[in-house]
Amino acid sequence: MRRVAFLTSGGDCQALNATMRGVAKTLYNADPDTQIIGILEGYKGLMYEKYVEMKPLDFSGILTEGGTILGSSRQPFKNMRKPDANGMDKVAAMVNTYHKLKLDCLVILGGNGTQKSANMLREEGLNVVGLPKTIDNDIWGTDISFGFDSAVSIATDAIDRLHSTASSHKRVMVIEVMGHKAGWIALYSGMAGGGDVILVPEIPYSIKNIGNTILERLKKGKPYSIVVVAEGIQTDGRKRAAEYIAQEIEYETGIETRETVLGYIQRGGSPTPFDRNLSTRMGGHATELIANGEFGRMVALKGNGISSVPLAEVAGKLKLVTEDHDLVIQGRRMGICFG
Ligand code: F6P
Repeated sequence: MRRVAFLTSGGDCQALNATMRGVAKTLYNADPDTQIIGILEGYKGLMYEKYVEMKPLDFSGILTEGGTILGSSRQPFKNMRKPDANGMDKVAAMVNTYHKLKLDCLVILGGNGTQKSANMLREEGLNVVGLPKTIDNDIWGTDISFGFDSAVSIATDAIDRLHSTASSHKRVMVIEVMGHKAGWIALYSGMAGGGDVILVPEIPYSIKNIGNTILERLKKGKPYSIVVVAEGIQTDGRKRAAEYIAQEIEYETGIETRETVLGYIQRGGSPTPFDRNLSTRMGGHATELIANGEFGRMVALKGNGISSVPLAEVAGKLKLVTEDHDLVIQGRRMGICFG
């Protein structure tokens, strides 16, 4: 009989519950005596012993549910070694809770920072297995993180909707999508949504180039343009990306320009079928790592296959958009402006 704890940490996203369901149902099916403990609110729950003993029924009906049934919190890695307000050693407290709960394994669902902290707990001797969660898709070591496809689907739907109003008013529409320091959501939704200009933090841009693209379209009888910007692009440091780019474009081209910031809508709601299946597959692979005693690893999608990578290799790295990505190359071939 194994005692396995789940913990969800960092920004929430779709398919967190689907992933926990994938792990739990597989564990219970293999051994009905399995005990699963839910650590509440991410690493905070591990620090302050906030947890629940879970039951198989807790994992029924959550495949399609957004958010996380355990709650989440942000506990930045850089603060982990700083004592809390009462002088408590947070890392020692987490290790203590792990042993107090007599855990065989801690399954950690989270993004970059979360996996970096998971690696730290590995170094503290805990049996940990990581699952790559983030809409940003910027986790090194896995081609895709769960949550990403759902965010791209939401952003693409929003871009689709902007085409009609841009056309009615012959306007330039700028939409800002999330992604933190990476441009993956902007790239994938911009290409899927027929964006004419796609700006990502990884590729420098010039307003003059963007203006020329828009004015060239006008000359060719295309009186409106769609501009998709990642929230992390370079701006004047005062305005949000969308507001800054919209103002610059209107000034540069003289064409009426409006902006939309999609924000947290990208993290809400039910996961796409792709994310549901990716989560189920990844959750299942996590149970194989647990059964084989292969700890200190993060489950990963490589090509079409599910495998795993050492957390030590993942920690502290970012996976960013590169100029040689085939979506960037193809976009350029079609005359899409990347800045
Ligand atoms: O990492 C996911 C994400 O949504 C980023 O895209 C965004 O920049 C950030 O979280 C927002 O953080 P918070 O939820 O703490 O406001």
